[in-house]
Amino acid sequence: MNTLNHFDTSQLELLHRGKVRDSYRAPSGERLIVVTDRLSAFDSVLETPVAHKGAVLNGLAAFWFDKTRHIIPNHVISLLDPNVTLAKEAEPIRVEMVVRNYLTGSMLRGYQQGQRTFSGVTVPDGLTKHQQFPEPIVTPTTKEESDREITPENLVAEGWVSAELYEKMRVKSLELFNFASQWMAERGIILVDTKYEFGLLDGELILIDEIHTPDSSRFWSAKDYARNPEAVEQMDKEYVRQWLIANKQDGQYPRALTPEVSAEATRRYLDIYERITGAPLPTGDEATAGGDVQARLVGNLVRAGIMKDA
Ligand SMILES: Nc1ncnc2c1ncn2[C@@H]1O[C@H](COP(=O)(O)OP(=O)(O)OP(=O)(O)O)[C@@H](O)[C@H]1O
Ligand SMILES: [Mg+2]
Repeated sequence: MNTLNHFDTSQLELLHRGKVRDSYRAPSGERLIVVTDRLSAFDSVLETPVAHKGAVLNGLAAFWFDKTRHIIPNHVISLLDPNVTLAKEAEPIRVEMVVRNYLTGSMLRGYQQGQRTFSGVTVPDGLTKHQQFPEPIVTPTTKEESDREITPENLVAEGWVSAELYEKMRVKSLELFNFASQWMAERGIILVDTKYEFGLLDGELILIDEIHTPDSSRFWSAKDYARNPEAVEQMDKEYVRQWLIANKQDGQYPRALTPEVSAEATRRYLDIYERITGAPLPTGDEATAGGDVQARLVGNLVRAGIMKDA
C-alpha cells in the first residue's frame, strides 16, 4: 500500500491510538509516535487515507522542533522513518496552550454570540470575522474528556499546573508562535492559531506532542487573506471539508473520498511542506520502498533494533 492507515504490531505495546497518530512503547521505554495518513474532518476519521499526509505532518513537526531548539528543548530523539518519531517520554502537563492571532473558529462563534472574554483574555468590541488581534493571545484549555476553556488562575487553583510553570509555558508559547509566524509570513503563509503541549523531563520543561502542523494549527494563504479576509480558508483541510459538505447524502457526510479528491488533498499537503521547509518531501519509489509504506516503516524499525523481523 502506498498509504498508511493504521500501524498494527503485536511486538510493541500500544500506548494510544489517536485520530491520526498511533503511539507505541519502544523496548527502551521511549515513545514511538507513528503518524498515519488518516484524515479527520468534522470530528470523524475518513475511511480513505491521504497519501503522504503522515510524512508531511511528521516531517513538519520534526522541522519545527529542530528550528525552535534555541527557544525550548523538545521530546524528539530521532526520526526513524518519514512517518515515525522516537520521542522521550515526559510527564505530560494536561493543558493545551492555544495561541491565536486571528478571530476565527470556535472563538469567532463565541464572539458572534457576544462573548468577549476567552480563557481570561478580553478582546476588543467591533472585531470582524478573521480580523487580526492587536497581538497574539493565549487561551489555554484543560486536556480531559472534552477540553475546557479555563483561566490561568483556575488552571492553578484546580491543580493542573503551578503558577510559575504556567508563566514559563505562556512565555515560551508566545515566543514559539512569533518565531513561526515570521518564518511562515516570509513564505506567504499566515499562522492563524496553534496549540502547544508541554511536559516535564527530569524536572525540566520541554515541548512534546507535535508542533506547527496542519493538524495542530490553522494555516491561511496570505494572498487569499489579502484578497478577501472573510472568505479565506484553511490551506489544507478546507478543500476536503467543502467536498464533504457538497456530497452529503441523507444528511450524512461521505465516509470516504474519491481518488481525485484524495489526490488533491495530497497535493495540498505536499505544497505546504515544500513552502515551509523549502524542499519537496521525497515521494518517489526510493522514498516509499516501491510504494509500500508499511514495509518501509517496518524495515526501518527493524534496522533501528525496535522490532524483530516479522
Ligand atoms: N513525549 C511525550 N511524552 C508523554 N506524552 C506525550 C508525548 N508526546 C505526546 N504525548 C501525549 O500523547 C497523546 C497523543 O495523542 P494523539 O494526539 O495521538 O491523540 P489524541 O490527542 O487523544 O486525540 P487527537 O487525535 O484528537 O489529537 C497526547 O495526550 C499527548 O499529550
Ligand atoms: Mg492530540
